[in-house]
Amino acid sequence: MDEPHELYFGAVSPPVIQTSLFVQKNYQAYCDDMLHEAERFIYSRGLNPTVQMVEQKLAKLERGEACRCFASGMGAISAVLMANLNARDHIILVNNVYGPAMALVRQMAEKYGITYDVVLDGNLDSIARKITPDTRMIYAESPGTMTMNVVDLAAIARLARARNITTAIDNTWATPLFQKPLTLGFDIVIHSCTKYLGGHSDLIAGAVITSQQRMAAIRDFSHQLLGAVLSPFAAWLLLRGLRTLPVRMPRHQENALRVIEYLATRPEVENIRHPCMATPEQQAIIHQQMSGFSGLFSFEIRGGHFATVKRFIDACRIFKVGCSWGGYESLIISPNRGYNEAGLAADHIAPGLIRLSVGQESPALLTDDLDTAFAAIAGMHKGEA
Ligand SMILES: Cc1ncc(COP(=O)(O)O)c(C=O)c1O
Repeated sequence: MDEPHELYFGAVSPPVIQTSLFVQKNYQAYCDDMLHEAERFIYSRGLNPTVQMVEQKLAKLERGEACRCFASGMGAISAVLMANLNARDHIILVNNVYGPAMALVRQMAEKYGITYDVVLDGNLDSIARKITPDTRMIYAESPGTMTMNVVDLAAIARLARARNITTAIDNTWATPLFQKPLTLGFDIVIHSCTKYLGGHSDLIAGAVITSQQRMAAIRDFSHQLLGAVLSPFAAWLLLRGLRTLPVRMPRHQENALRVIEYLATRPEVENIRHPCMATPEQQAIIHQQMSGFSGLFSFEIRGGHFATVKRFIDACRIFKVGCSWGGYESLIISPNRGYNEAGLAADHIAPGLIRLSVGQESPALLTDDLDTAFAAIAGMHKGEA
């Protein structure tokens, strides 16, 4: 996307317009601007040039009409849910959606009287069966970032459109480089830009991309009034990150595939969950809606339990222990914290599940690191700490 270099003395790197306020040349100009608050630079909670530049790029990447950025991915998720759901409305959550997003829906159910259903398998018939006259939104994550299950986005969008139900998706895993849900009929795309879009583990940001009409409601209510907007400096870091997105993503993909090839040779490993390992049925869906894969995936240690995952994770040196993903560095984590196995079972998550975020290091370094971790758990039995 062209950048307005001429506005900034030809600076090739866009400046951080680090200001809360824009002063007007006289009072009449201020009064006129207030009539067009959504498009004018008045106050940075509304619009800021650095933030606007990144919003325009994200809208273009996702093939959407409008984008607004938020102070975090959760800021973006809550903005979408709160702008679209009223008391007694019903939402269907499809796939293992991000835990805090699920927690927010539960809180909204308790506090504001919305109702919800979760469809873990993402199957179209299962979703259709959950639709009620009050259903206002279908919210999906695909691939789901813990189990990597993929759902048929075009089919879900058709089902929802026919019933006037809004569709929203968290597209953080695939990035717009590898999946463009608006082109498949989804209404709203959400990102945690904290992950691959920023790409360097140095910012927290979120984004919502949709039509102008839908964005007007999100802007007026949840962007302006809830106020969790992106700061100019975080927007600048995000602009810098976006410049290398097309270089970084293929490298994440390539490294992840090499690590998966290695894991597939290990007798201790089962159920590698990455779209490249999907069933033929899932492959058909992937083929129609994705053009590439990122580096976040999970696998199970056969018969694994808390002590196994703890020892495995602690034996790694290159993979760092951390719950985020999408940056340069490779990361390792398990949803099993030792005190939550009952909850994991309810979500169909195996106690031996390990999640890797494969970064940009050399794949040989990464597989050597995992070799050491497998050696560390050799001969472990259930209950051994
Ligand atoms: C899939 C997914 N969506 C949304 C979020 C929330 O993003 P943020 O941490 O920027 O609020 C995360 C964070 O881990 C995530 O993994």
